[in-house]
Amino acid sequence: MSDPKYPLAQRLITSTGNVVVDGPLPERPTGRALVPARAYTGVEEFRLEEARIFAAGWVWAGYAHWVAEPGAVHPVTIGGKPLLIVHGDDGRIRVFHNACRHRGMALTEEPMVVARRIQCAYHCWSYQLDGALAAAPFYGRDRRSKVDPAVADELGLLAVASHVWAGLVFVDLSSVNTDPQACADDFTHRLGPILNRWSHIDFGRIHFAEERRYDIDANWKLVVENFLDFYHLPFVHPQVGPVTASLDIDDVALHPDIMGGTYPRGAAGKADKTERPLPWLGAVPADRLEQQDIFCVFPNALLFLEADWFQVIGFHPLAPDRTVEHMAVFVDSAAAGAEFASARTQLTDALWRVNEQDLPILHRLQVGRHSPASDLTNLVSHWDQIGALFQQRVAQRAGYR
Ligand code: FES
Ligand SMILES: [Fe+2]
Repeated sequence: MSDPKYPLAQRLITSTGNVVVDGPLPERPTGRALVPARAYTGVEEFRLEEARIFAAGWVWAGYAHWVAEPGAVHPVTIGGKPLLIVHGDDGRIRVFHNACRHRGMALTEEPMVVARRIQCAYHCWSYQLDGALAAAPFYGRDRRSKVDPAVADELGLLAVASHVWAGLVFVDLSSVNTDPQACADDFTHRLGPILNRWSHIDFGRIHFAEERRYDIDANWKLVVENFLDFYHLPFVHPQVGPVTASLDIDDVALHPDIMGGTYPRGAAGKADKTERPLPWLGAVPADRLEQQDIFCVFPNALLFLEADWFQVIGFHPLAPDRTVEHMAVFVDSAAAGAEFASARTQLTDALWRVNEQDLPILHRLQVGRHSPASDLTNLVSHWDQIGALFQQRVAQRAGYR
């Protein structure tokens, strides 16, 4: 189901019977890149995208499994701003600005687990896991002096709008409303089209299987564009299956911020990833068992869903030419046991391999962005409309052209 406010791009059917959305690319290539090459190399453009894209709406910040227990604290940087993901005593995951309310020192740069309080190393102010100021020693210059409660109320860590969905922690740095229900409502509204599309999956059942970190020497946009590039699959990932199966993919544009594809004939013809099938992610209806979806939730959550596994590539852009990916694989909780250990390993090995095959491609795409020819590229309407929709969104949000 799509967002009724967003009219789906008109669909065109190709000679292979696949759907291509009617995106920004005309039939004849234009020789003009939708996003200028400087946006992949320039520091000024990188800062602009941090402010206008990463600090201006819901973005992936990290994984719930990074803060698996109460007292777990995990620092991340989003839109250039240091944040802390914190698992509270009450089981809730909250996100705060990672700056002490006294002199603004970052509370930690490393993940840690604290007993009950997060303490600043400078003057030892400490905070409860819900962000409230717990103590500020010698505040009034003597041992027993306490901060006036009305003043202490003003000195808690500053919260950031956040929401946890499917094991993923999202934040919205542009929102001032950090009330959990308001965050949940806004997130659900903004991501409605994908939540609806995947309403047959019980994400409450997912079990974190494994994670790998990839430090990539390429601009973040190339990471997304490559994820949305279905044309390269048979050439770079031939093990995935015969050409006809790997190219049998339909474009799907759910929303200006949610674009990707689906295999209309499901897994038919594709190589099996595991010898032993894994249990489905909950009670998946029979007519959805073969569904395989690939979506970018703009800008930095790249999701791949099948009936028995869920793969996420969340990433943090660190510099114009450096992006750190955190790729995680989730299975159903019924697949968490030792009897599925080797099937889980087969699955994750197959998925890591696909991702690792893309790394040299990303490197060379970045090298190419220093060429003047990179402003004169030719995306093709038969293949690249989804990638072009992503680039169009970047250009709109960042204000290119
Ligand atoms: S800066 Fe944190 S207590 Fe002073
Ligand atoms: Fe690839």
